[in-house]
Amino acid sequence: MIRHLLSAADLGRDDALLVLDTAIEMAATASRSVKKLPTLRGRTVVNLFYEDSTRTRISFEAAAKRLSADVINFSAKGSSVSKGESLKDTALTLQAMGADAVVIRHPESGAPYRLAQWLDGVVINAGDGTHEHPTQALLDAYTMRSRLGRIDGLRVTIVGDVLHSRVARSNVLLLDTLGAEVTLVAPPTLLPVGVEAWPATVSYDLDAVLPKSDVVMMLRVQRERMNDSYFPTQREYSRRYGLDVRRLGALPEHAIVMHPGPMNRGMEIAPQVADSPRSTIVEQVSNGVSVRMAVMYLLLGGSGSKENS
Ligand code: NCD
Repeated sequence: MIRHLLSAADLGRDDALLVLDTAIEMAATASRSVKKLPTLRGRTVVNLFYEDSTRTRISFEAAAKRLSADVINFSAKGSSVSKGESLKDTALTLQAMGADAVVIRHPESGAPYRLAQWLDGVVINAGDGTHEHPTQALLDAYTMRSRLGRIDGLRVTIVGDVLHSRVARSNVLLLDTLGAEVTLVAPPTLLPVGVEAWPATVSYDLDAVLPKSDVVMMLRVQRERMNDSYFPTQREYSRRYGLDVRRLGALPEHAIVMHPGPMNRGMEIAPQVADSPRSTIVEQVSNGVSVRMAVMYLLLGGSGSKENS
């Protein structure tokens, strides 16, 4: 198994499948009356969050606690970061306190890589700028596999603000590793430079792609990262790239609808679609805990991990 989880590209096919298989075992513990496993007793996991988060932070905290780790939650607001303390000095402080793992979310792409150079412990990327969010890709893959029985050969369509989405980037990398075919659908202004080199097809026509999709993953329009106007109006965006009830009807019978959350209901996804039985949005959240348990278990030295680094 790898030492840190910084990018979805760190995971080869065997490692990715090992995480997904381990997550199935972790999920089984959630249905027991005592949900805790003793695996990480005496180990310390720090959640280092420099950016707002609801589900990812709670999910990592729940996962670490279910493995019996001691969890310290750090949020940049109200800490010495607001006094100008650098990431390096914060890292040295965590190191001195004996953190075994640090889960980091940071507005700058690449911050987890720097952290990994300064710490002896394990670093897990919980979202860095517009770069990557590997555990989200793993929980999405887990959800596809549990709903559709496989990932290999699935046609996955990812729609919306690809430019600002670390979820899209990590998903494209992991899905490619696991043999799915990915199509990105977005306005040209919301596609990153160099997207041609990604292992994915690009389309601007959502209606043409939907009938050929097993999975549709809608992305949040990330207005907080936009300092310019990337599309004419919200209405125009929804008309061309939003998933409404009519478009839901164009999907094959078995297809599922995903969204990493938080959603802009009524913009990229209609409320009736978000709440429909085809939607896996709530499942994604519960699967997130099992997947993060598996990641921490394997990286912090649970049995079953393989040495390849
Ligand atoms: C995503 C994120 O923060 O990158 N959310 C999440 O982790 N569930 C996607 C988003 O913010 O749109």
